[in-house]
Amino acid sequence: MARFIDDLKRTHSCGDLRLENDGDEVVLFGWVHNRRDHGGCIFIDLRDRDGLTQIVFDPSEVKEPFPIGDSARSEWVLGIRGRVRDRGDKLRNPRLDTGAIEVLALEATVFNKALTPPFEIEDGVATNEEKRLEHRYLDLRRPILQRNLIMRSKLNNTARDYFIGEGFIEVETPFMVKYTPGGARNFLVPSRLTPGNFYALAESPQLYKQLLMCAGFDKYFQITRCFRDEDLRIDRQPEFSQCDVEMSFINQDDLFKVLEGLVFRLWKDVLGFDLKERFPTGEFPRLPFDESMRRFGNDKPDMRFGLEHVELTDIIVEHDGGNVPLLQPIAAKFKDGTYRKELPEEIVKAIRVPAEYKLSRKDVDELEKFCKQNGAKGLGRAKVNDGGAWTQSPFAKVITDDLRDAINKACGAEPGDLILLQFGKEARVQTVMANLRVHLGKKFGLIPEVGTDGDWNFLWVVNPPLFEANDDGTWAAAHHVFTRPHDEDIAKLESDPGMVKCYRYDLVLNGFEIAGGSIRLHDPEVQKRVFNVIGLSDEEGRDKFGFLLDALTYGAPPHGGIAFGMDRVAMLAAHTESIRDVIAFPKTQRANDLMTGAPGPVDAKQLADLKIRTAVDPK
Ligand code: AMO
Repeated sequence: MARFIDDLKRTHSCGDLRLENDGDEVVLFGWVHNRRDHGGCIFIDLRDRDGLTQIVFDPSEVKEPFPIGDSARSEWVLGIRGRVRDRGDKLRNPRLDTGAIEVLALEATVFNKALTPPFEIEDGVATNEEKRLEHRYLDLRRPILQRNLIMRSKLNNTARDYFIGEGFIEVETPFMVKYTPGGARNFLVPSRLTPGNFYALAESPQLYKQLLMCAGFDKYFQITRCFRDEDLRIDRQPEFSQCDVEMSFINQDDLFKVLEGLVFRLWKDVLGFDLKERFPTGEFPRLPFDESMRRFGNDKPDMRFGLEHVELTDIIVEHDGGNVPLLQPIAAKFKDGTYRKELPEEIVKAIRVPAEYKLSRKDVDELEKFCKQNGAKGLGRAKVNDGGAWTQSPFAKVITDDLRDAINKACGAEPGDLILLQFGKEARVQTVMANLRVHLGKKFGLIPEVGTDGDWNFLWVVNPPLFEANDDGTWAAAHHVFTRPHDEDIAKLESDPGMVKCYRYDLVLNGFEIAGGSIRLHDPEVQKRVFNVIGLSDEEGRDKFGFLLDALTYGAPPHGGIAFGMDRVAMLAAHTESIRDVIAFPKTQRANDLMTGAPGPVDAKQLADLKIRTAVDPK
């Protein structure tokens, strides 16, 4: 029988011991974080997920364990029996929770030796991410990742506790579901038993949670995986976790209350931050979608700083483009009557950079480069002089005084300020200007410090349009087809779809969409009309969503819900810039798992069983 583990059980974690343990005999297990030789006396920082404890191997006091301390190297796994002792005032390490004590080794064992790791297991050491992901089990030993995952576990536990306390029940829904076109691109799972057919991996439990409402399971929640074959970004993974919620007999306000309660609780219990200080009413502010687009260029604004957009389209139109060749065609389009104001094809926007942020010509050239990387053709600019004249601007010579003055006024420009301009297709202008604003906010250091009150900027973005126009003038559902239009807009469904607003909402934190949901359509007649607007006939609607339409006809309660992106919540709560830092085994930008090599080829027999032939040779 092994002496350690069988006889000597672990008494404490490596983060547990304090001065009050002085004199205790303890057993610790862990990894060698580092080892220092101080003239024949060996010091080892032993690490586990709780922290570090300094172990002393002093041959002048205890001989037997010394050879182990002497030979141990980084990442060896040791067991130590020892005595806790006070380090003394001079030798305390205030940066360590256990920094007041050390443990004199009385007995030791080597559970395992370790190869020299390919990178240092240390926070703040720059190692290329590929290498870290290849050896993720080593990367995960870093204290910061351990803290992140422990925090994430608390987030999940607290959310569960909150919902159960509020009378919700957790119901699991299938991952392998029927493929329905539209929405995010699905991962597919071939069916062996019905060859040629596929399941889709669920992109969310959306339809099932609505069916649960029809089945009478009011107040549902689930913390679950979702799968989407999307192009990945810093805040996106192909598989991610949602805390998914649905309720019956509620309106938008009722739902917000429950969700605000959840966020308050998570921040208090997990992060120790009382959001009441910042949101004394217990409610988060609400921003209409249109206003968000106008002021910030997207529906997930970071409102921790200003630098808001200024809409100039109307002014440009009023002034017929003010003699500026690039602006004249935009104004002309507006005037020829074929142009619909609520669906602008081309717009003009500005950001005023106050004089205090002193941008050199070179700085502005760099901003232009940034805009081009974001899809812009260039970046218009004008420096405002005393009296309002423009310099350092390609427009300065041609623009009419009237238009120039009107732009200065709209921007609130003072002498010394810089006006940055973008014009062209609406979608592109909005994206470029939204990204430019955030870029400038970071560049000027306008984002509040981590952990401060101003740091947590929660915001509901509400009342978006139900439909968006396709390039060919047809309509598509802006989010999903089961979202309920505002009652007063139902009459416009056929006559003016672009003006129909709906009960869809996103919860935004510091520029990231952390949750999204809607009040659902539970009226099958209105549902059919919505299908018709997006070009789905009654039969096609039935073909795709027959099971849900059926369920709606058998007595569906009014219902609505939301889903939190738990990876994003964790990412922001951990103040990290990459979602990968809060996921144990994340995928790369190209959706690869560098550690296991997934995705990989499968053997011919497996494919034959599934009756699948591939058109390309796997690489
Ligand atoms: P939605 O598609 O808005 O809504 O997703 C909800 C939240 O999930 C997060 N999220 C992601 N996180 C990481 N990687 C991804 N690829 C990813 N995609 C989405 C976001 C987002 O706010 N069924 C609806 C919810 C509802 O209507 O109730 C849905 O899935 O934080």
